Amino acid sequence: MSIENSERLRASLDKALDGVEGWLELPVAWQLHEIARRFPVSNEATKIVEIGTWKGRSTIALAKGLQAKGEGMVYGIDPHTGSEQTRLIYGELDTWNELLANLKAAGVEDCVVPIRSTAHAARPRFEDKSIHLLLIDGSREYNEFREYIEDWETTLTDGGILVFRGPFQPGVYRVVREGLLHRRSRFRKPIYIYERSGEMLMLEHHIDPPAWTFRDWVGLRVVATQYGARNSTRRLRRLVPSVFRRRAKSTLNGFLKLLSRAAPGATAASKRYGG
Ligand SMILES: C[S@@+](CC[C@H](N)C(=O)[O-])C[C@H]1O[C@@H](n2cnc3c(N)ncnc32)[C@H](O)[C@@H]1O
Repeated sequence: MSIENSERLRASLDKALDGVEGWLELPVAWQLHEIARRFPVSNEATKIVEIGTWKGRSTIALAKGLQAKGEGMVYGIDPHTGSEQTRLIYGELDTWNELLANLKAAGVEDCVVPIRSTAHAARPRFEDKSIHLLLIDGSREYNEFREYIEDWETTLTDGGILVFRGPFQPGVYRVVREGLLHRRSRFRKPIYIYERSGEMLMLEHHIDPPAWTFRDWVGLRVVATQYGARNSTRRLRRLVPSVFRRRAKSTLNGFLKLLSRAAPGATAASKRYGG
């Protein structure tokens, strides 16, 4: 694809996401767009399932990728009553109507099937070996994330892709080590996707997994090293007395305020999310 075409698609994605609330920044949305657009499927339409739709940012990114590809469908699953964490921030909520309005405004209604349900309750609607790409962006707690994998692994086709956000959240990482990244699992070729605004891990699913290769081992080492580095930072944070952390934070905030006066565009993301 030419650079102009790629820039045109990225600008179109940016426009489609304009005004859609959420935590998924454009660089990560673009990665999802490209995974959906480039995923090779022959003789059948590309079928994508997303767990954790919220108000539709990732759904729109995947759907725009499919539109650029010219075929396929995204099934977006969410109970739309938020997770424990979002309810702590926003209280009782319902994101269903806003999702529908956002999908319409983005022009992707035709290639998205929104499903108002938990992932577990929606699982029987999908046949085994029928999903080409599974995106998980729901709860990052160990039990919930483990349930997603246990329920949904069998829906993936041979060569299908599993991609999820927050791979270094402790609960998610534990599932990665216990169930996904080892010689006896059905997943191979881990790819760690890094953007400053978010990280993802992508794995290839195999019904009869090939032998574990050097490439798999390197992927595992990269992921384990990243997790180790984050753990050290967390530990260090715990060791530094909170009074010093507060002082450093207020100095940083002062600096960011100065910066935002000099360059108003610099705080666009924090304005969108009210942070
Ligand atoms: C981080 S938000 C998703 C953000 C969204 N992907 C975006 O791009 O804006 C997490 C979502 O997961 C949903 N969720 C939590 N538990 C779930 C479950 N068991 N099944 C499906 N969705 C769930 C929540 O309702 C919430 O909307």
